[in-house]
Amino acid sequence: MKYRQFGKLGIQGSAFGLGCMRFNGNASGDSVIDEEKAISLIRRAIDGGVTYMDTAYVYLDKTSETVLGKALKDGYREKVTIATKMPDSAVHNREEMEALLDEELKKLQTDHIDFYLMHGIDRKKYEYFKSIGAREFFDDKKREGKIRYKCFSFHGPYEEFEYILQDYDWDMVQIQYNFMDVDNQAGTRGLELAGRLGIPVVIMEGLLGGRLAHAPENVQALYDAFPVKRSPVEWAFRWLCNHPEVATVLSGCNEAEQIDDNLRIFDTVGAGIMPPEELTLMENVRKAYLDRTRIGCTGCRYCMPCPQGVDIPRIFSIRNNMSLYGVDPKKDWGYQAICKEGHTPANCIGCGACEAACPQHLPIIEELQKIWKEMA
Ligand SMILES: NC(=O)c1ccc[n+]([C@@H]2O[C@H](COP(=O)([O-])OP(=O)(O)OC[C@H]3O[C@@H](n4cnc5c(N)ncnc54)[C@H](OP(=O)(O)O)[C@@H]3O)[C@@H](O)[C@H]2O)c1
Repeated sequence: MKYRQFGKLGIQGSAFGLGCMRFNGNASGDSVIDEEKAISLIRRAIDGGVTYMDTAYVYLDKTSETVLGKALKDGYREKVTIATKMPDSAVHNREEMEALLDEELKKLQTDHIDFYLMHGIDRKKYEYFKSIGAREFFDDKKREGKIRYKCFSFHGPYEEFEYILQDYDWDMVQIQYNFMDVDNQAGTRGLELAGRLGIPVVIMEGLLGGRLAHAPENVQALYDAFPVKRSPVEWAFRWLCNHPEVATVLSGCNEAEQIDDNLRIFDTVGAGIMPPEELTLMENVRKAYLDRTRIGCTGCRYCMPCPQGVDIPRIFSIRNNMSLYGVDPKKDWGYQAICKEGHTPANCIGCGACEAACPQHLPIIEELQKIWKEMA
């Protein structure tokens, strides 16, 4: 296992951090956590050198922290740092923040949390956290020693990331990043900004939730043609760790084999070690994925709001994920939400407001109907 610097914090952590959001690969195939298996996976990772554990209050129906707490008994707690999170939905005032943190400490069976994060924020959620005094709360808890580092995880556009990152004295940030997300969310610009500020970056969705683990034919052909043979997972993690700003790459594993594979991979990674031909390969791989794009929507949302409530960019994005990564739309929470909320293309009356606003000049009205049928 390689260990990496955490920016200005002056500490080191394992290049592979274990994400405790999944653990649902139990024998019956349902989503109920298999506690015994989860504990054995966690301990297997720690025995292999992992020192960074990522969980959250809400993961696995609020059971993830409890299971991690159990796994970290018998001397394992002392070997790792714990990251957990405060969701905006669970707190409305100081008393509730106090109660939530105490509950998390109890579930994790520890007297302190190393990395405490405002969970999955964008500008709107950050302003909400500010309005209820969350920043002062984080300051106080750090002083009291109940948390060591003040952090946030982010899902939103770069401009909001830039603002949030510089609006408070953060110790660490967690972003979604992988070779397909260089221009998405915080993206490469966000990663490099954090690096310039000395703020360590923890990576989530390094495999896009597992989608990058299985290369489609045109991508696999590129990997196969390269003289050095590595799996798609290894290429993805190697590319991430090539960035010096990256402190730890989280990966949520469901099986012992995945833990072992990742332990092996993260023993070979390093910042700045990829030669130009490997970087070119990854750029070509990215292009090969993008060649599979079904519709050229960039997600700029100029077409929104649709007067009939159709979430056009979201529908296009779900359809593109089908082509790029083979994602079944029925299993996509976005698709489920659209159906549940009734915001489907069936509502479209062909007014054309969207097409007039689209900078890509997409035939949105026609494509919406076609794509909806393809997804069904
Ligand atoms: N704060 C936030 O807003 C937020 C959001 C998302 C995630 N997170 C955190 O970030 C962590 C990492 O995200 P993630 O779980 O989405 O990570 P990821 O690495 O992008 O995806 C994990 C999935 O990749 C596959 N995988 C992992 N290692 C593999 C290997 N060696 N070979 C083949 N497949 C492999 C597995 O999928 P299959 O078993 O299905 O093949 C696994 O479930 C989460 O666990 C969570 O702790 C935080």
